[in-house]
Amino acid sequence: MQSFTYSNPTTLHFGEGKLEKLTEEIPKYGTKVLLVYGGGSIKRNGIYDQVIKRLNEINVEIVELSGVEPNPRLSTVHRGVDLVKEHNIDFLLAVGGGSVIDCTKAIAVGAKYDGDVWDIITKKTQPKEALPLGTVLTIAATGSEMNSSSVITNWETNEKYGWGSPLVFPKFSILDPTFTASLPKDHTTYGMIDMMAHVFEQYFHHEKNTPVQDQFAESILRTVKETAPLLLNDLTNKEYRSTVLYCGTLALNGTLSMGLRGDWATHNIEHAVSAVFDIPHGAGLAILFPAWMEYCLEENVTRFTQLATRVFGVNPEGKSDLTVAKEGIQAIRDFWTSIGAPGKLSDYHIKESDLPVLVEKAMANGPFGRFKTLQAEDVLAIYKRAL
Ligand code: NZQ
Ligand code: ZN
Repeated sequence: MQSFTYSNPTTLHFGEGKLEKLTEEIPKYGTKVLLVYGGGSIKRNGIYDQVIKRLNEINVEIVELSGVEPNPRLSTVHRGVDLVKEHNIDFLLAVGGGSVIDCTKAIAVGAKYDGDVWDIITKKTQPKEALPLGTVLTIAATGSEMNSSSVITNWETNEKYGWGSPLVFPKFSILDPTFTASLPKDHTTYGMIDMMAHVFEQYFHHEKNTPVQDQFAESILRTVKETAPLLLNDLTNKEYRSTVLYCGTLALNGTLSMGLRGDWATHNIEHAVSAVFDIPHGAGLAILFPAWMEYCLEENVTRFTQLATRVFGVNPEGKSDLTVAKEGIQAIRDFWTSIGAPGKLSDYHIKESDLPVLVEKAMANGPFGRFKTLQAEDVLAIYKRAL
């Protein structure tokens, strides 16, 4: 385990009815609120009305930015920045999933930057200031509600990049599991895959002596694995929704990577796919993660056998480590297929002839991956396995 410094300043309000905390939180930061949301789910499920009611109780001025896309686009961030400048906004409230929150984070820094916010997203420059933001989360998936990352797509150039800054940790996040109950089956599945993938990204490392981190990660994986089929058969069950919601936040709020540095190659490989084909992030991960695992297995077989036996119930008796590890990867694939995830790039009509472009996108910032450093030929081989 490496030395580390850990700080997470986001205040988490978790549980049914916690939306009331908006009236306590927002006045600490501002009086002119940009309310950011997606394509309309919050209007259909009543969350919008509840948020507006709370905002009216504290007499804040409200300006709205609606229509944030899944895989949020730079053009929408620009619209948000313009609204902030035009209306002198002093607080940003994201109501939605990772896409809405990520867009809001980019608006927060874009509004305080003289140039194009794309400079920050592409890491040409570091943000020096940001508007404060808060979130009301409506989908268990990314962990964006309690981390400092954001992922934005430039649809004109088909580039999708993650960026981050401590300045964009939400000041607070409100997680009411009942707000996630209207999420349809497919996005519920993609969200659970995303959080499992976040755990995997941090589980595959070469650090020694990480027993707490390992078992913490394994317990989140086991919990999602046990809860997923129950939840998918009972989508409005509050207890299952709470469990999964809590897992999603823990999977990517920094807790699992204390003392170690994860791999994160598969996320880069997936972002290249959703940058070009606009597929849901979790669906892309379900296709690509097992392919990455098979390709990188021999870097450190022990990590894979540990995962296979402790989480995916593989019986190691009489088998070689490699066999156990491979059975574990197959179990992951089978589990994800059993909860409705796609298994191949061809499920999205992605063909072998599309792969060179995807490789080029994934390699835009050079070789990547800390568990195994991937060059262009490695990335191509992983995409081929996933076809
Ligand atoms: O747009 P609306 O109408 O709200 O519909 C959304 C969207 O279509 C819908 N939805 C959300 N809550 C709902 C609901 N529908 C019914 N009831 C509800 N309660 O779900 C769809 C997907 O929403 P989205 O926000 O796109 O999902 P998610 O939270 O999975 O976010 C995905 C984005 O986050 C990025 C991904 O790359 C992708 O762009 N990521 C962000 C990370 C971060 N900031 O830390 C890390 C992740 O690895 C990931 O890369
Ligand atoms: Zn992810």
